[in-house]
Parts: sequence; C-alpha cells; structure tokens
Amino acid sequence: TNIALAVGVNSPVSSVPSDTVDINWDTIGFGLVHTDHMYTMKCSLGGSFSKGELVPFGNIELSPCAGVLNYGQGLFEGLKAYRTEDDNILLFRPEENAKRMIMGAERMCMPSPSVDQFIQAVKDTVLANERWIPPPGKGSLYIRPLLIGSGSVLGLAPAPEYTFLIYVSPVGNYFKEGLSPINLIIETEMHRATPGGTGSVKTIGNYAAVLKAQGAAKAKGYSDVLYLDSVHKKYLEEVSSCNIFIVKGNSISTPDIKGTILPGITRKSIIDVARDEGFQVEEREVTVDELLDADEVFCTGTAVVVSPVGSITYLGKSVTYGSHGVGLVSQQLYSSLTRLQMGLVDDKMGWIVK
Ligand code: COI
Repeated sequence: TNIALAVGVNSPVSSVPSDTVDINWDTIGFGLVHTDHMYTMKCSLGGSFSKGELVPFGNIELSPCAGVLNYGQGLFEGLKAYRTEDDNILLFRPEENAKRMIMGAERMCMPSPSVDQFIQAVKDTVLANERWIPPPGKGSLYIRPLLIGSGSVLGLAPAPEYTFLIYVSPVGNYFKEGLSPINLIIETEMHRATPGGTGSVKTIGNYAAVLKAQGAAKAKGYSDVLYLDSVHKKYLEEVSSCNIFIVKGNSISTPDIKGTILPGITRKSIIDVARDEGFQVEEREVTVDELLDADEVFCTGTAVVVSPVGSITYLGKSVTYGSHGVGLVSQQLYSSLTRLQMGLVDDKMGWIVK
C-alpha cells in the first residue's frame, strides 16, 4: 500500500476561490504557504522525462519502498520569481538551476529533465500560481523543484522510477533577523561534507545532515552554523543553507568550489556583480583566522539573498563586525543584486527570464 506524503503539509489543499490572496505581505517570512498548483513529471530508470502536468497542490503517493525514502535518492533546487511594477514576472537565471540539477542527478544516479523541460516546467508552475507572487518589493515566489527516486527498491540500487515535482510558496526574508546581521557559530565537531562525498550537489541528505548542529546553535541563540573542512578543520566551507564571503579592504574572498561546497547561483552572481563594481574577488581557500580578521562577512543564497554577518563565535570567543557601519559592502551588493532581480536596472548580464 502506498502512503500519502504531503508536499510540505499534512492535508490536501483546496484552492482559494478568488483572485486575491489573504496574506499580509508586510509580515511574510520564509514558510510554506499553500498555493494552487504543482507540477509533476515521471520517468523510468534509463528513460527520459517526456510529458509533465500541472495538478492541484497536495499530497503525493509513494511506496514505503521508494528509493528516496529508503536510500535518500533525492535532489532539490531553489529559485525565485519576482513581480515588477509593470506586472511582468521575472525569473533569475533558471537555466543555472536546471544545469545544477542535471549535474546533481548524475552524481545521485538519477535521470533528470533537460534544461528546456526544467525551465518550461518552472514557467508553467509560476503562471499557474501567479496570484501568489507578492507585490513588487514585498517578497518573491520561492520555487522548489524536486527530483526523487519514487520507484520501489529494497536491495541497494537506483530506484526504477523518478518523479520531478515543482511546488511554490510566496516568501519574505529567510532569517528571523530580517535584513539585520545574523550571528553564526563555527562548528568544530560535525562536518557538512567530505572530499569525494556529495557536498557539491543539492541532495536532500546534505540538509538533514546539518540539522543537529543547526538545532544546537539555535538553542544557544545563534542564527546558524558555519562549517569547516573535514580534513584540516581550518578552512571555511559554508553555512547550513548558504555560501560565505569575507571582505578585507577592497578584496572579497569566498571558498572555492572543490567538491565539498555547493556552487550557489547567488554566490556566482555576487562574484560577477562585485567584480563589475570594482572589487577584487578571489575564490580560494579561506582560513578561520582570515574570517576572524575580516572587515565584513556576509552570506549568499537564493533563500537568504545577501545576509550580513554581525558576529562569529569560534571556540567560545566571539568576534563582531561592523565597527565602520554594519555590512556596507553586503548592503551595496544586496541592493545591486535585488534591483537586478526585480527588473529595476538594466540586465546587462542577460540573467533575467520573463
Ligand atoms: C535556497 O537558498 O534556495 C536553499 O536551497 C536553501 C534552503 C535550505 C532553504
């Protein structure tokens, strides 16, 4: 017998019978809001995805033996749609998410939708849920594509069938701090990823693996956890849900992508935006000592956008940033990126898809 799994909720969703939605856009955070439709498409192992469909948002059925439930064969993506003042809907670099899903699927032994299929499915899902896109400047529609081994398997092997799903939710700021600086603690015992592992792909297990350290940090009042490399325990890797950057003078550095760090699309975009604005940007190994000595620190991610870091705690000692004003560089980059994403400035990089 299959079990019914909610896509983020425990009960089927009935659509709201009006064109307006009952949401206070001024207080919306990063949580699930039920929307009207989700996208689903299936394919068998060794086959290719062909035809997907929009269905009412709600529970899905899975066998208890599904590959994703037993052996963690699953990937997700995250991107956002923005509503502009002239009522266009903009996506930010969706082909980058499509390519990252293809790369991750290869690592996790799964078939994946093509770039065109992925982008078309995203567009269809966003348009089907258009009324849930926040007004300009009030947030965005977070888009969550999922790829899971939905077929039954008992002996350890790739699942015989795969499901590609997309659901969406209107969102505001990710951290409860809003745009105020977050406080991070460096984790010295648990690691997020190891060389040769799956740290560089957006597989679901990477996120389950950080919950314990994240929960302990939150219980002590920190916003989140910063992980170190598992070999030397001195190089920065990333935060549970985002990448990290340090600023020293005109120089901005971020850990290089070498198998244990998620190649964030916001990370990559901020590197280009910062270079365009005259900063010297390096992707390289960054030590804890450099972090503690930085002028400024910030995080990037689709969900978190660009978040300034107010303090770092390491081995019981805390360093605070912002003596020269809180997060001046991160504020500048946040503004440049979000103005681009919201269609307020010329898209000279060609990153926006209507
Ligand atoms: C995103 O930024 O889109 C992510 O996937 C992070 C997630 C844990 C919310």
